[in-house]
Amino acid sequence: MDNHLGQGNLPVDFDADVAVAEFSPRERSGDYAARRPARGAILMCAPDHFGVDYVINPWMENQVGQATLPRAQAQWENLRRNLAAHSDIAFVAPTPGLPDMVFTANAGLAIGDKAVVSRFHAKQRRPEERLFCEWFEAQGYAIADWPQNVPFEGAGDALIDHARGIVWCGYGWRSGEDAPKQLEKVFRRRVIALELVDARFYHLDTCFCPLSGGWTMYYPAAFDIPSQEAIRAIVPPEKRIEVDEKDALAFACNAVEVAGHVFLNACSDSLRSRLTDAGFTPVITPLSEFMRAGGAAKCLTLQLPHATSRVTPRG
Ligand code: ARG
Repeated sequence: MDNHLGQGNLPVDFDADVAVAEFSPRERSGDYAARRPARGAILMCAPDHFGVDYVINPWMENQVGQATLPRAQAQWENLRRNLAAHSDIAFVAPTPGLPDMVFTANAGLAIGDKAVVSRFHAKQRRPEERLFCEWFEAQGYAIADWPQNVPFEGAGDALIDHARGIVWCGYGWRSGEDAPKQLEKVFRRRVIALELVDARFYHLDTCFCPLSGGWTMYYPAAFDIPSQEAIRAIVPPEKRIEVDEKDALAFACNAVEVAGHVFLNACSDSLRSRLTDAGFTPVITPLSEFMRAGGAAKCLTLQLPHATSRVTPRG
C-alpha cells in the first residue's frame, strides 16, 4: 500500500474503536488531521455548528431554526460510534457560520492519491471549499485542477462503484452537466452520467447507492428516462434493489456500507428483508435533525478509499 503519508508503522488490523477513544473531543474536532490515517477511512465533521440557517434544497423549507442541536449531536455521535466499530474515522474541524459542513460527502471526491475539491453550486457553502481543500492537502492528496465554471458537489453526486470499477455521477441540481466528463478526465475512470429530475433528490446520494457485490439500491423516479435505462443496462435485474417513494423519502438510499453493514436513517420491513436476502446487515441510525437540512447517513460521511483501490482503469 502507498505509504507516502508516513503511516507505514500502523498495525494492519488497526482497531478503529480504540483509535477513536484515544483522542480528546478537541482532537476529534480536527486539531490532529496530520496524525490520522486518512486512507481507508471515513471523514466526518462534528455538528458543533450545525443548524438550518438558510434554504438551498426543498427539505430545508420551513426548517430554518428548527433543528435541535443536542439531538443532532446525539444522532451524529450514534452514527459515528456505529461506523467506528467497522472503520477508521477521520475528522475535519467544524467551523462557525458553516452549518452544512457536517455533510462531508460534499467535501470532494478522493480516489487513490488524488482529490477533487467541491465547487459548490450553493453559494452559502462556497466558504467550505477552502477548508476541505486544506484538509485534503494536509493529508497529502494531490488536488486536481477543476474548471471554475463547472459546479461539482463531491461524493454527494459522484459515487464510486467498486464492484464495477466505475463512478456514477448525478447532475442537474447541484453538479453541472459537464461534471461527469471532467471526472473522467481527472480520474481516468469510466463515469456514468445520471440526470436527476426530482428536486427532493438533488444529490445522487439521496436516491442511489452502489453496494458491494454489484448490488445497487436506488429510487428510479428520481432519474430521467435515459438515466433509468442507463442504470438498467449496467445493473442486472437480480442486483437491483429498487426502493419505493416512502423508503426514498426516509432517505433509505442515503446509506453508508461498511463491511457488509448498511447504515441508514430508516427502512421499511420489505427493504430490510431485501437487503438481508442480499447478504447485508441493515443498521438503523436515526438522523431526523439532519433530514431537516436534507441529509442523512451517507451525506455525513466521505469515504476515503485505500490507495490500493479496487477501482480499475477504463479499457
Ligand atoms: N443542506 C445541505 C445542502 O443542501 C445538505 C447536503 C446533503 N449532502 C449530500 N451529500 N446529499 O447542501
